[in-house]
Amino acid sequence: MSQLLQINSSVFGDQGVSSQLANAFVQEWKRKDPGAHVTHRDLVVDAIPHLDGERLTALMTSEAERTPEQQQVVEQSDALIRELQEADLVVIGAPMYNFGIPSQLKSWLDMVARSGITFRYTEQGPEGLLTGKKVYVFASSGGIHRGGHSDGVTPYLETMLGFLGMTDVEFIYAEGLAMGEEPRARGIAQANARIDALLAA
Ligand SMILES: Cc1cc2nc3c(=O)[nH]c(=O)nc-3n(C[C@H](O)[C@H](O)[C@H](O)COP(=O)(O)O)c2cc1C
Repeated sequence: MSQLLQINSSVFGDQGVSSQLANAFVQEWKRKDPGAHVTHRDLVVDAIPHLDGERLTALMTSEAERTPEQQQVVEQSDALIRELQEADLVVIGAPMYNFGIPSQLKSWLDMVARSGITFRYTEQGPEGLLTGKKVYVFASSGGIHRGGHSDGVTPYLETMLGFLGMTDVEFIYAEGLAMGEEPRARGIAQANARIDALLAA
C-alpha cells in the first residue's frame, strides 16, 4: 500500500492552479491504487509559523531542558517530519509568488529540515536522510521562467529536497497563466497532458 503525502500551498486554496493539478493527480493516483493512503496538508489553511529565534531555539534545546512552549514547537516539527518519513510518494503544489515559493511552503521546509533527523553532515559533506521517495512538484506561474534566472522555484526546491535526501523529483509545469486566455489554457492543458502521461506509465 503506497503512502502519499500531499502538500498544497496556494493562497487560493483549491481554486489555485497548482492545487487543482496536484488534487487531480492524487485523485487519479487513488483511482489506480485504491489502497493508497493519502495525508493531505494545506499550508495556507493550516499555517505553520515562520521560523524565528524562539522556534529555532526550541528546536535546538535538549528534551530535558525544554519549556512546555518549546516542547509544542518540537512536537509540531516531529509530526511534520513523521508524515514525510512515512510517505513513499510526496506531491507538492508549488505556485510561484514573487519569483519564489510561497512563504507557507518555506515555513514547512524550515520545520522539516532538522540536523541529525532529516539530514546530517559527514566528512564527505551533507547527507539527506529522507531517502527512497518519489516527489512530484506541480509548479504554476503567471509567466514562463523555466531554465532562466527568474525561476526561483525549480532550482531551490531541487536543492532543498535533494539536501533532505529526496533526489527523485519530477516537476510538472503550468506556465504562462497570466499571459492571456490562450496561453493560460495551453499551460494548463500541457500540465494535464503530463499528468496523464505520468499516470499511464
Ligand atoms: C502574490 C502573487 C505573486 C506572483 N508572482 C509571480 C511571479 O513572480 N512570477 C510569475 O510568473 N507569476 C507570478 N504570479 C502568478 C502566479 O504564479 C499564478 O497566478 C499561479 O497560478 C499561482 O499558482 P496558484 O494558482 O496555484 O496559486 C504571482 C501571483 C500572485 C498572487
